[in-house]
Amino acid sequence: MFFNDRHEKHVDTQSIELDSERIPKHIAIIMDGNGRWAKKQNLPRVSGHQRGMEVVKDITKAASDLGVKVLTLYAFSTENWKRPDTEVGFLMKLPGRFFDTFVPDLIANNIRVNVIGYIDQLPKHTQKAVNKAIEQTANNTGMVLNFALNYGGRAEIVSGVQQIAQRVLKGEIKPEDIDEHLVDQSMMTSSLEYADPDLLIRTSGEERLSNFLLWQVAYAEFVFVDEHWPEFTPAVLKRTIMTYQSRHRRFGGLAENKSDQK
Ligand code: FPP
Repeated sequence: MFFNDRHEKHVDTQSIELDSERIPKHIAIIMDGNGRWAKKQNLPRVSGHQRGMEVVKDITKAASDLGVKVLTLYAFSTENWKRPDTEVGFLMKLPGRFFDTFVPDLIANNIRVNVIGYIDQLPKHTQKAVNKAIEQTANNTGMVLNFALNYGGRAEIVSGVQQIAQRVLKGEIKPEDIDEHLVDQSMMTSSLEYADPDLLIRTSGEERLSNFLLWQVAYAEFVFVDEHWPEFTPAVLKRTIMTYQSRHRRFGGLAENKSDQK
């Protein structure tokens, strides 16, 4: 059986029984469509981001309750600096607003904050807010809420390759020592127990990767949903996991049970 998420849109998610043994360990989300949602409501674009921030709170709790181990959210890409200054300024204030209101909930839910991206290039107040939340939640042992902030997949790979080249230059390793494990270790996700997403979701009907986790999504299942990010709900999350569970992941091999093969 093959479920296309769009065909499952009208399924009553309350009645969906997810297989608790096959909850994706790492879910990565491209939170798209804040601007389009705002336009539809005749609101300024930044209202979409504000609403999007509230949705992040709901989805963080829902993912943690479902037993997800890592939730990576694409909050600001290295390309997003091209937006008008007022919008960039607003987006840079969001981490502060988010953590000011949500850290107690993160602690209550045993959720740890992590960040990937070029943090040192963010405004000082944003860096401060992010670093404070990382410190405040450092001892939590449950889900990791991993924000991609000023992140770009190609830039990450370039930085990783530079690190490896430096090590070769210093004589610490030989070119033939470079393998997938070493490249993994040179990515910004290297500290995560589950570095590679099992499920990648993009909202708002776009079907692009937009420079997100290029190395890490090699075997991820991609699910695209029509809802704009401000319309994304725990029920939609559940629906995407149902789509994920309906697919077969073989990692290039064959299905264990031949009758399972398509
Ligand atoms: C994409 O929508 C969204 C972004 C670039 C920003 C994502 C930020 C949030 C969801 C807020 C949460 C952030 C934190 C730190 C809690 P878009 O503006 O590209 O929408 P459009 O394609 O419709 O214009």
